[in-house]
Amino acid sequence: MAQDALAEGRALAFDRAKGNCLSCHAIPGGDLPGTIGPPLADMKARFPKRADLVAILHDETQRNPRTIMPPFGRNLILTDKEIEAIADFLYSL
Ligand code: HEC
Repeated sequence: MAQDALAEGRALAFDRAKGNCLSCHAIPGGDLPGTIGPPLADMKARFPKRADLVAILHDETQRNPRTIMPPFGRNLILTDKEIEAIADFLYSL
């Protein structure tokens, strides 16, 4: 079950029609990443409060109004459930 959630989160993060996170972020296990955003690693240590990570995925403009990271939740690119799965995956990095 936990493994399924991780696999789903990874698939959503890497899917070009969904998270497309690799276009901007290096992520362990992902090919040809962009370098517009910081590499995603040590997520649990850096974001001990999971809600902080979810908030970034939902709408990073709340933290940084000038970010170019898409507000995945606010724009409905990703559902809340999809964001939760990606947060699970990020926490495994
Ligand atoms: C268009 C480029 C772009 C895309 C696509 C993108 N991001 Fe980002 N992301 C950024 C930038 C730039 C930052 C740096 C912080 C800022 O701009 O506010 C960032 C910051 C972050 C942070 C905070 C990292 C830190 O060290 O502070 C996380 C976590 C994150 N992104 C996750 C994701 C995930 C997961 C996806 C895919 C669902 C994604 N991003 C898609 C550009 C992007």
